[in-house]
Formats: sequence, structure tokens, C-alpha cells
Amino acid sequence: DFHKHPKKLALASDGLVPHWDKQQLQRGMQVYKEVCSACHSLNFVAFRNIQDLGYTEGQVKTFAKGFQVPSINPDTGEPATRDGLSSDHFPAPYANEVAARAANNNALPPDLSLITKAREGGKNYVYSLLTGYQNPPQNLPKELAPSTGLHYNPYFANLNLAMAKPLSDGQVTYADGTKASVDQMAKDVTAFLVWTAEPKLVTRVQVGWAAFFFLLIFTVLTYLSYRNIWADKK
Ligand code: HEM
Repeated sequence: DFHKHPKKLALASDGLVPHWDKQQLQRGMQVYKEVCSACHSLNFVAFRNIQDLGYTEGQVKTFAKGFQVPSINPDTGEPATRDGLSSDHFPAPYANEVAARAANNNALPPDLSLITKAREGGKNYVYSLLTGYQNPPQNLPKELAPSTGLHYNPYFANLNLAMAKPLSDGQVTYADGTKASVDQMAKDVTAFLVWTAEPKLVTRVQVGWAAFFFLLIFTVLTYLSYRNIWADKK
């Protein structure tokens, strides 16, 4: 078997006391915008949602304006585009599936909003896939070798996929000065895609703890009042 088991990616949003590493999420969004958004969509994320990553309302407006979103020319009724607004969602790079497949060797780049939930292995898989491109091993049988337009990756279910290695060292220039190695960019964009898939993850766990401690105190109080009520009935 030529498949590899995904490598483990540890993130601040893991475990029982998760938090968001906003610096990392901002870097990840930069990678998404400058690299992945050329082919992938992010249908479930609105520009205003990125305020959660530590941007101000004004920064969000400016960011949204940098995208062209589909619209209709009010005079002619023809399809057109306009500057993005905070309330718009990240636009898809292609007009429709036919155009998307035509540009990608007939494969369809999936929407990435929920990808860290949708694939077995989750964030570990996405991180491993992005860093896992390699030359096919010497002893690979011919029928498993990548055919034209496909690229070998031992983390992908059928070993060859239509997405070429999307990241190379220094591909983005990080605003915070972090060195943009393939590994760093893969970690950052995966952290960002963990956030897009469940932006309320940290709140959910925090509310869970609050409910747990409330119930714990409530249980103790109930027990004490039970003892108190029955104290003289022995
Ligand atoms: C598939 C992530 C950039 C084209 C995928 C998959 C993921 C992914 C997770 C799904 C693999 C699966 O089905 O299990 C990313 C990320 C990117 C990026 C995080 C940026 C760092 C790009 C770019 C292109 C592209 C720039 C186009 C030039 C595709 C295509 C597929 C795909 C065509 C479908 C592959 C197939 O089913 O054979 N990508 N991608 N991706 N991506 Fe990307």
C-alpha cells in the first residue's frame, strides 16, 4: 500500500481549553486569498465574519472591496460584477461547475468552507495533503502512476489528484514577518480552514465548561439540601 497516514497537526484550537491563534488565522486567510482562492470557493464565509480574526470593521470593508462579486447591471439586466461588501460571501473563482472543470483537467475544486470536517482525517489530512506532494516512488506499479494532468500525493485517496502542488517556499509575504515556508503556510491555511468550518468552536467549548461547572455546583447544593432535609428523620 502506497498510502500514508496523515501527519498530526497541533493547533491552538485543539483540546479541552481551545483558543484561536488570531495571528495564525490572519496568516492562513492571507494564504487562502493569495493562493487557494484562485481555484476554490469559500461559500459559507461572509467577509464580515473575519472580524472574529481581529480585523476592524473598516479593515473588513477595505478587504471586501478588493473582491469582485457577481451582480446584475441595473440598466441592461446583463450579468456584471461589483466591488464586494462586508455582507457578501467570499466569491467563487469560476462562474459555474462547467467553467471550473474546464480549467482543472475536468476535476472540480471543492468548496473549502467545511473541508476540515468533510474529509476523514480532518485538519491532519488537509495539512498532510498540502505538504505531501512528492515524486512517485520507484517501485510504484504503472497503473498507479499519475496520468497526464494528475499529481502524485500519498495522502490522497487514489494517490493522484488534479490539484498541482499549490504551495512553494516564499509564495506569500506575510504581513507579520513570519517566514513563509511550505510547512508554515500549510499549517496556517489549515488553521484558517478549521476556523471556517466551525467559527463557534471556542465559544462552544467554553459554554460547555460553564454548563459543566454549573451542574457540578448544583449537584453539590442538591446533595447538601437533601442531607439537611432528612437530617432529623434518622
Ligand atoms: C482539491 C485544498 C489550492 C485546484 C483540493 C482539496 C483540498 C484542497 C483540501 C480536496 C482533496 C480531496 O478531495 O480530498 C487547497 C488549498 C489550497 C489549494 C488549501 C491553497 C493553499 C488550489 C489551487 C488550485 C486547486 C491554486 C488550482 C490551480 C484543486 C482541484 C482539486 C482540489 C482541481 C480537485 C482534485 C481532484 O479531485 O483530483 N484542494 N487547494 N487548488 N484543488 Fe485545491
